[in-house]
Amino acid sequence: MQTQKTDTTRGLFSGNKIAIVGCGTIGEALVRGMLSAGFAKTAQIQVSTRSPERAQMLHRSLGIVAGTDNRRTAEGADVVVLAVKPSLALPVLDEMAGELSARQAMVISVAAAITTLQLEQAIERRTGAFGAVVRAMPNTPALIGKGMTALAQGRKVSAAQAEIARHLFLSIGRAVMVEERYLDAVTGLSASGPAFIYMVIESLAEGGVRVGLSRELALELAAQTVVGAGSMVLETQEHPAKLKDAVTTPAGCTVDGLLELEEGGLRVALIKAVSRAAIRAGQLAGR
Ligand SMILES: NC(=O)c1ccc[n+]([C@@H]2O[C@H](COP(=O)([O-])OP(=O)(O)OC[C@H]3O[C@@H](n4cnc5c(N)ncnc54)[C@H](OP(=O)(O)O)[C@@H]3O)[C@@H](O)[C@H]2O)c1
Repeated sequence: MQTQKTDTTRGLFSGNKIAIVGCGTIGEALVRGMLSAGFAKTAQIQVSTRSPERAQMLHRSLGIVAGTDNRRTAEGADVVVLAVKPSLALPVLDEMAGELSARQAMVISVAAAITTLQLEQAIERRTGAFGAVVRAMPNTPALIGKGMTALAQGRKVSAAQAEIARHLFLSIGRAVMVEERYLDAVTGLSASGPAFIYMVIESLAEGGVRVGLSRELALELAAQTVVGAGSMVLETQEHPAKLKDAVTTPAGCTVDGLLELEEGGLRVALIKAVSRAAIRAGQLAGR
């Protein structure tokens, strides 16, 4: 399956209008991604925020229609991205649900811990019909177009709508469809993961400083090493153990470093970090 940005993103959205309700950090990243990937044009995107000042700023900087009226923003949209904080997702959806039925709009929620069933029920309460909903879990590198998003579809989403949802998120990085039961695990790995990797980068750089490098140089070496190693895994599609072995010459320096990592419990620590974060994601979702 194609999981990364390609030219096929361009022109995939054939509908009239995409609404982003709650255009904050993630919403703005999506607008910028959609525009730069050619997924949608400025005239097709309409967004809402809480404050008029932010709406004005978004209008000025991106040239899109931006306001504070969620219902008007959602009106006539084929796709509505719900990007408010999780505590507001259901009330805001309830507020604008009436606008969704006419075009049978698809709602894509990025709100952590809000299930497709909760979203479907919120729409059903207001319209009497099941809504087409998709739940997406992006991560912060989406802000620079290097995100990893996993998406789970609800019961009424067509194959064509699921592809539109996935391609929307391809405009801010990689995107995969998963079953909803895996979203807590996804949260523990790719949504919390950037924080784990920042700690790895910080520690690698600290090691560089310890052996005499300037902090600035050490940080650049560490960060680009992580970028390069990640890209090697994705682009060569080799198992990381094989790539590791290729760096590790007999009686060389890398094997000594690896021994330290094994003694320090790096593998177990990372496995436990992902597991604990995934369990916590389930607790926040009330499971
Ligand atoms: N940031 C991430 O990396 C990330 C990753 C995965 C999932 N998510 C999810 O993405 C969602 C948004 O997170 P974020 O980091 O983008 O938050 P954010 O930057 O705080 O953005 C939230 C936006 O919602 C707007 N808003 C608040 N109340 C509203 C209302 N009643 N109607 C319409 N808009 C309203 C805010 O407007 P003002 O700016 O005017 O206050 C703001 O623009 C959350 O549900 C979070 O779980 C985020």
